[in-house]
Amino acid sequence: MTTSGGCVPARQQLATLVKDALGSLFPEDAGMEPLVAACTNKFGDYQCNNAMGIWSKIKGKSSEFKSPNAVGQGIAKALPSSPLIEKTSVAGPGFINIIVSSRWMEERIHKMLIDGLGSWAPSLGLKRAVVDFSSPNIAKEMHVGHLRSTIIGDSIAKMLEYCNVEVLRRNHVGDWGTQFGMLIEYLFNEYPNWDQNSEEHAVDKLQALYKSSKKRFDEDPLFKKQAQQAVVLLQGGDKRYREAWEQICSISRNEFDQVYNRLRVVLEEKGESFYNPYIPSVIKELESKGLVSESEGARVIHVEGQNIPLIVVKTDGGFNYASTDLTALWYRLNVEKADWIVYVTDVGQSLHFEMVFYAARRAGWLAADVKQLPKATHVGFGLVLGPDGKRFRTRATEVVRLADLLDEAKSRSEQGLVDRGREDIWEADELEQAAEALGYGAVKYADLKNNRTTNYTFNFDQMLDVRGNTAVYLLYAHARICSIIRKSGKDIDELKKIGSLRLAHENERLLGLHLIRFPEIIEDALADLLPNTVCEYLYNLSEIFTKFYSTCKVIGSSEETSRLLLCEAAAVIMRECFELLGITPLYRL
Ligand code: ARG
Repeated sequence: MTTSGGCVPARQQLATLVKDALGSLFPEDAGMEPLVAACTNKFGDYQCNNAMGIWSKIKGKSSEFKSPNAVGQGIAKALPSSPLIEKTSVAGPGFINIIVSSRWMEERIHKMLIDGLGSWAPSLGLKRAVVDFSSPNIAKEMHVGHLRSTIIGDSIAKMLEYCNVEVLRRNHVGDWGTQFGMLIEYLFNEYPNWDQNSEEHAVDKLQALYKSSKKRFDEDPLFKKQAQQAVVLLQGGDKRYREAWEQICSISRNEFDQVYNRLRVVLEEKGESFYNPYIPSVIKELESKGLVSESEGARVIHVEGQNIPLIVVKTDGGFNYASTDLTALWYRLNVEKADWIVYVTDVGQSLHFEMVFYAARRAGWLAADVKQLPKATHVGFGLVLGPDGKRFRTRATEVVRLADLLDEAKSRSEQGLVDRGREDIWEADELEQAAEALGYGAVKYADLKNNRTTNYTFNFDQMLDVRGNTAVYLLYAHARICSIIRKSGKDIDELKKIGSLRLAHENERLLGLHLIRFPEIIEDALADLLPNTVCEYLYNLSEIFTKFYSTCKVIGSSEETSRLLLCEAAAVIMRECFELLGITPLYRL
């Protein structure tokens, strides 16, 4: 990833210095990648790890360097001088430990307080991205898998937006296909007077209807025929069928929107039906490129290394999930001009996306080199498990109501606040807002803090624990910092102008170092599309802050101004982390 603009992260500035040093020492080996990473030992803040690799190449051939350590010494000496570096030292096998100048960090943090944290946003070298997430299916349940996709996808979209990428947040809802002919026909047969508005639990009803229509479809050949004709009518635009389809979609959509509104997640629906008119020409293009062949009556794309091909036209001539996804990908690349397309679904769909991306690379829509733009990435995630270790269900019945689950998170949080006596000192709406921030924040954080590829167990007690690695704990930690600033009685904006920030105590310096790493964490989180990287950073930030606060007196000390500025910087960065994780920060708790 490249960074342009005024505020290049420390790690990248160091990488540029190392690159210069390598270029001057080994001009014949131009283009060697500098290896700079945050340091995990106490001898440095960052580390350069190039020496060993270079040594293995030049061993016995160089008269200048007799050991990897000598290579490290050579690189360290060749580093151009920079206000960023305080000093360097070279450890045994040639690792260069770099200590960053405290003065540099002080200035950088102070400037961020004045210019805002947006000034630290790394530049990713891309303009527009599509994030395809949530994407539940009409007339079917929106299950916890869709909730995971919603939470992870929103966080990825937010990180990209922070980096000034224009994000098209796409809800690729399953709103098309033969099942709608079946469902509508069943409805017309069995419930001729069906009126969506008169149904109390319209969505539950819809799912039940879906089930029975499927049963009938499988058992009754006559009905099967009728349903197939219904598909033709629906797809041909028959008014009655079209209206019924729209009604069905709107019932499901209302249910989905309830979840999105609570979670404050913004999505733009462009469902499968949207791409339907474009499918034939896209398939034609793939055919003209020689990618499609016949297999057992179907039209398929063979994928290198896979035994099973990707079916793009079914034996009956109809289109499927893959035809739609190929078309959506074509549309996003060629019409919407996206540089990066990210799909957030369970890992079960990895192979599907692998095959779709393969076809798109062969068609020349995606760059042949997967690291080049335009690119597409599948962000897979594991299962949500219940206390029994099985797939999580919120109810014993078949319908999973995500709204119920969010209600419970909120009401438990509210009870927690009432137990702490907040009911007596807060207005009702303040209590409600805090309960929502805590409850929904807890659900999101519990999901995001795990590496997304692993399964995790849904557990209310754990996620709402004030002492664990939870959103609740972190929201309290943030509110406490805000209360320190409030209690000082100082105008923080005034202090930013007149005061200065010093990282004199070792724990002040530790905190400052953690703060300046923020943009690097965002780069890392986006490189792997792992929001848990941000969770880990946020949790560490609150721990490092606690260490600072327990050793460095703030209010009433001679360093008060500087320390208040440091508190403010920590709070600003915590809030941005919350924002990126979709959690609403609270200023008092
Ligand atoms: N509707 C699908 C499901 O519930 C997810 C769609 C994901 N997006 C896509 N472009 N295929 O499994």
